[in-house]
Amino acid sequence: MQAFIKTQEEYIKEKIKKLGYEIKDVTLNVSSRPELGDYQFNGIMALAKEYKRNPREIAEELVNSIKEDNFYKDINMAGPGFINITFSDEQLINHLNELNENINLNYTVDKKRTIFLDYGGANVAKALHVGHLRSANIGEALKRLAKSLGNETIADAHLGDWGRPIGLVMLEIKNRFPNLPYFDENHKGSYPDQSPVTNEDLMEMYPKASEKAKNDEKYMEEAREITAKFQSGDKGLMALWEHIMNVSKKDIKASYDRLNTTFEVWEGESDCDKYIPELIEYLEKEKLIKESQGARIIEVKEENDDHEVPPLLLVKSNGSHSYETTDLACIWERMHKWSPDEIWYLTDSRQALHFEQVFRAAKKAKIVKDTTKLEFIPFGTMNGVDGKPFKTRDGGTMKLDDLIDLAAVECEKKILPNIIGEERKKIAEIVALSAVKYADLLPYRLTDYVFDPVKFSDLQGKTGPYLLYSTIRMKSLLAKANEEKIEYKKILTISDEFQRNIMISLLNINSVLNKSFESRSLNDICEHLYKITNTYNNFYYQNRILTESNIKIRESWLTLTKIVYDNNCKMLKILGINVPERM
Ligand code: ARG
Repeated sequence: MQAFIKTQEEYIKEKIKKLGYEIKDVTLNVSSRPELGDYQFNGIMALAKEYKRNPREIAEELVNSIKEDNFYKDINMAGPGFINITFSDEQLINHLNELNENINLNYTVDKKRTIFLDYGGANVAKALHVGHLRSANIGEALKRLAKSLGNETIADAHLGDWGRPIGLVMLEIKNRFPNLPYFDENHKGSYPDQSPVTNEDLMEMYPKASEKAKNDEKYMEEAREITAKFQSGDKGLMALWEHIMNVSKKDIKASYDRLNTTFEVWEGESDCDKYIPELIEYLEKEKLIKESQGARIIEVKEENDDHEVPPLLLVKSNGSHSYETTDLACIWERMHKWSPDEIWYLTDSRQALHFEQVFRAAKKAKIVKDTTKLEFIPFGTMNGVDGKPFKTRDGGTMKLDDLIDLAAVECEKKILPNIIGEERKKIAEIVALSAVKYADLLPYRLTDYVFDPVKFSDLQGKTGPYLLYSTIRMKSLLAKANEEKIEYKKILTISDEFQRNIMISLLNINSVLNKSFESRSLNDICEHLYKITNTYNNFYYQNRILTESNIKIRESWLTLTKIVYDNNCKMLKILGINVPERM
């Protein structure tokens, strides 16, 4: 069984071939002029150019040959050679009944791949901030989308657990509690089970230490030393590292849970670090490493570069490794352990050059296959009303949890007054997440947007709460039908334009999903979900579904409601949005 529009596209392609023309792809689009047809095919112009023919002539040949088969309600030509198709009621009804049997019919991709995703990147000992929001939202949704289309997916949290931030925190702990055994070279035996710091301590310590290091070169030097010391495996510092990890990871996990963001693998930079020696040995054997001013580098510039791509710094002159080295070792590990067809990285666009260097080195060194796709998927910023990256009122970085709280306050106001207590809190949280996620995924991935919790939580317009509210209403309608023992199994008839419009909007879900998948941006899905929902609501306001006296019509309407409901839930789930029982 195949997606409806795809079947039509293949059918038309065959028809064109039979007329003696070669064509690579046929794409049907939703008609921009519904009075002429449901869908349109605009590919004739290109074909005519190739064959040096008049497009209207080819279009006419095609229209005539399709008319012979007689299963569209109408097919006609317009303008310089556009072809418009109107589907027959029978076609629409049959397809929607297939969808009713199997809502997954539309959830397919041509070529299934194993995709490894890297969209965590939270830094240990630092709170998740709004910068991590978009990588988590977009990454998680892309993973769910890829998976729903039939790909294998593995996501890694890839925590920043091995760098200077930890050294800074360690230095701060050392200055405050110099007598702790972790700093005593002569300490014998084991170290305490209890962590000397809580997560709150870490949250307070890191910004202070970081600020101090910026203004005090001596302090910075000490931080570098302590970082190098734990990285080279100092026993005491490693015991402290374990404590910091445990405390901080618990908090990071809770934040990702709150964001409905999941990882199959919870590794970090420290795990990749273990692979650096064998990586370097391999690179040496392949003669790819060059010496440059005491450092060891890999050249990655290419002949036709239109911008400067500096060499990848593998080992710094002081013997330490760079962020690039860690990522290269990480690819090494991922290829050995999971051997994915593609690796996707999500961070903001400032890391573009970093990934360009790493990907080039990985290809050059044949750490990945020629066919392995390494992809950097950047995104725009979330701004405040002033158009600058979103900050707290006093200009600091806003914590992710505080940001969701802001949305929860607004969403709580929208919930039914009879929902109280714990349930009210829980539902406000789910609705808030829908508001934040939908607003984040609605613009094209690279577009910046303004954080506006009041607008995001509106029950009207393109918002998460509007979609939830409408979807819950579909569910209550179906529940009432069940209570009244009204059976609905099939769509039997199309009663009006409102009903027909929803049916049309459900035809091209597969194309929308694939478009989003290819562009690695959820905007098409968000727009389509809104369109289906809005079209359904127009139909809902127009008709009294449960009290409709014609039982064939009533059954058709209820079945249609069920299909829209099922699909809405599926699409919302891809976006990482849950549907509450009520709101
Ligand atoms: N921890 C990094 C940061 O906060 C992001 C990591 C992204 N992933 C990677 N493999 N480099 O900037």
